Amino acid sequence: MRMRPAFQRLLLLVCHACLLNTVTTDKVCSHPPPENGSELSGGQLFYEPGTQVTLSCSQGYSNAGGSRKITCKKNGEWTERELKCSPKRCPVPESPQNGNAGFNNIVYKSVIRYSCNDGYVLVGANSSECLHTAQWSEPAPQCEPVTCGLPDIPPYAKIVYDKQFEEDTVQFGFGGIYECLPPMVLFGDKRATCTAEGTWTVPPVCKLVTCPVPSAIENGFLSFAEMREHGYKEKVKYGCHYPYLLDGPAEVECEETGSWSRIPACRAPCTVDIERGRILYKGVKKWIEDFKPNQVLHSEQVTVYCLNEEGNCGYPVSMQCNDGHMPTPACYEEPSATRYQLKAGSLPSEIKQC
Ligand SMILES: *[C@@H]1O[C@H](CO)[C@@H](O)[C@H](O)[C@H]1NC(C)=O
Ligand SMILES: *[C@@H]1O[C@H](CO)[C@@H](O)[C@H](O)[C@H]1NC(C)=O
Repeated sequence: MRMRPAFQRLLLLVCHACLLNTVTTDKVCSHPPPENGSELSGGQLFYEPGTQVTLSCSQGYSNAGGSRKITCKKNGEWTERELKCSPKRCPVPESPQNGNAGFNNIVYKSVIRYSCNDGYVLVGANSSECLHTAQWSEPAPQCEPVTCGLPDIPPYAKIVYDKQFEEDTVQFGFGGIYECLPPMVLFGDKRATCTAEGTWTVPPVCKLVTCPVPSAIENGFLSFAEMREHGYKEKVKYGCHYPYLLDGPAEVECEETGSWSRIPACRAPCTVDIERGRILYKGVKKWIEDFKPNQVLHSEQVTVYCLNEEGNCGYPVSMQCNDGHMPTPACYEEPSATRYQLKAGSLPSEIKQC
């Protein structure tokens, strides 16, 4: 088949273009970037396929074996790196006393973050980085205790320190105990402590506390007491005239509120309110006319006897004296004078007990 010259020329042009194309698809390699600790120092921007270069370990990495060579391939990429470079290791850091060194790793570029415990301040750098020289960039800081100046001493108070000290400052945690000069009373926290913030805890206050002249009680008396105001913690004693009985503590103390602790009362005795019958008192059975004087003291118990009609038997029922009141149990029946005189043996206290 014959071609026309014009067409031939066109074909030639096309073929020329296609030839040029095959030349330009042979790509060049760009300068290998630092990667996994290895790099090519110096050199050019581009390399022809087939070129071999020698890598070395980057700053902060050491050679851990493998061929250092890579070759530029026809596709414009480098052959895989065989050179192994491992990051340099810095010494294992130690935590500062009363502080902490926080880190995940100790290789090149690792960072330690230092902190101090409560009540300690960091003096020095709070972080340190592992350098290419396998040394930490900063020395370990110190954790120094927080200090306080001297605490305030409120009026009428003194402070007894935990121990003697010379300087005008004390360390966190140090403290003492406040005391009020008698008869002043301490209100608040008696412990003084230099806190982690470098300040003292709030001091207490010393106040004068007096209780009024102790009051008299009905049917009773004050013993060994002066009729004057009393100071905090002073005591007075109460008693009762017989047969009144003291209810509450005999000793009363002036409290820090300026009032007396519970003041006792004198409780009245009771009479057994029956005319004919037998009672049980302090384990002894007595006819009421033999119970002399007819008097039981406050809170004492007396037993009377009631009748159980169904069983025709007697049973005991107790009553208690409460400040002059001792009602007779409802089941108790007072016998007639005649029956009491002549048939006392038939009373519930004398017959068979239920
Ligand atoms: C770096 O090393 C890791 C493991 O050793 C590998 O998986 C990774 O492909 C390497 N990176 C490059 C870009 O070569
Ligand atoms: C560490 O110190 C720097 C300056 O010295 C400060 O800006 C930073 O807040 C500190 N970091 C911590 C966690 O204290």
